[in-house]
Amino acid sequence: MDSLLIKGGVPLHGDVQISGAKNAVLPIMAATLLTNEPCVIRHVPDLTDVKFMGKILQSLGAEVTIEGDTFTVQARRIKGHGDYELIRKMRGSICILGPLLARLRKAEVSQPGGCVIGTRPIDLHLKGLRALGAKIVVDEGYVRVQAPRLIGTEIFLGGRAGPTVLGTANIMSAAVLAEGVTIIESAACEPEVTDLANFLNAMGAKIQGAGSPTLTITGVKELHGAEHEVIPDRIEAATFAIAAAMTNGEITIHGARPDHMNAVIDKLREAGVKVERRGTSLVVKRGGKLQPVDVTTLPYAGFPTDVQAQMMALMCLTPGISIITERIFESRFSHVAELGRLGADISIEGPSAIVKGGKRLSGAPVMASDLRASAALVLAGLAAKGSTQVNRIYHLDRGYEKIDQKLKQLGARISRIQET
Ligand code: EPU
Repeated sequence: MDSLLIKGGVPLHGDVQISGAKNAVLPIMAATLLTNEPCVIRHVPDLTDVKFMGKILQSLGAEVTIEGDTFTVQARRIKGHGDYELIRKMRGSICILGPLLARLRKAEVSQPGGCVIGTRPIDLHLKGLRALGAKIVVDEGYVRVQAPRLIGTEIFLGGRAGPTVLGTANIMSAAVLAEGVTIIESAACEPEVTDLANFLNAMGAKIQGAGSPTLTITGVKELHGAEHEVIPDRIEAATFAIAAAMTNGEITIHGARPDHMNAVIDKLREAGVKVERRGTSLVVKRGGKLQPVDVTTLPYAGFPTDVQAQMMALMCLTPGISIITERIFESRFSHVAELGRLGADISIEGPSAIVKGGKRLSGAPVMASDLRASAALVLAGLAAKGSTQVNRIYHLDRGYEKIDQKLKQLGARISRIQET
């Protein structure tokens, strides 16, 4: 697998353009299965997860054409079960379940396993589909769902760690074609869920309350084709903002939605980072001495779990003690040991990481087995003295469009070593 070689210590300067949001585009691509008419999706990021989802749609019988960052999907005639191995490999593929059930009244997907960030159950997805009238059987590694009729009802989707993002996407995508009204309480409020609701409404759905914990969905008989532009990736934008702070540079981040990033911007400012909003751009530089901050990840509009690892990397450079608490996933700390290889002093106490920051980081070979953990290691490598080789960057390519090229444009000394 490819790796990245980074020669650290160079302040990053210049401009970077933000790509479409991975976590918005995946459920939107899945929702194209709800109609036999063509759907055009713009601002699609070039990521392996997106390519994967394209292949899954094709394995279900949809035609997928790609021109630059525009995907056209037409699911004229589809079947309710795709390629087992393809679906099993990407956890995000669970979001085909709701659309398939709504369109075909039956669906079969491989049961997603746990992953490095936690057990990742789908009980809430299944609870919501059952409430709409689906019969569900889980066996032989498959989730098989059937519902001759889907009937609107009240569904409470809150779980142990709060709302579920893809669970909300799935239930919303099924309820749009149910009979009557569905009310989802404790719905996820993430901008990616709102983006999906906007796409579904453009297809003729009737969803009210997106962005709030209560969604009211009035079922319609059928949906039609639609065009949609995916929102900018707030996690990618946050990662570049932290890169500016960590390398003591100045980056202008273009094509972002600062209004989706309030919790991150607030924490960065508290940490002494200067963040200036200019419409859809953000100008980020280190203001002076960095300050330690305590961070707790929460559902939106709280601090995102997907920026926890990157924020921890920043805190490694910050003199003093910061406490970073992960409340969404139970074991999302795989970056801790690897940051330790670069010289960071971090200990784990239950759901919290205690970072004794301010030690000089120095380059080393590291490896991460989760997307955001890999991003944190790249950031640490950019700030470290000497060379850092981030191995197995497969995960990074799943979620960051051309991250090495974007960093290079900002002056980073970074190169991709391709495995031969
Ligand atoms: N949960 C349950 N039961 C369920 C579903 C979730 O208990 O049926 C729990 C999870 O175990 C977790 C919490 O609820 O503790 C929240 O999980 P959620 O369902 O919201 O996560 P997800 O929808 O599977 C999406 C993103 C993740 C992101 C989370 C939280 C996609 C493709 N993935 O996952 O993105 O961390 O929401 O915001 O949208 C990433 O991009 O690196 C990433 C992991």
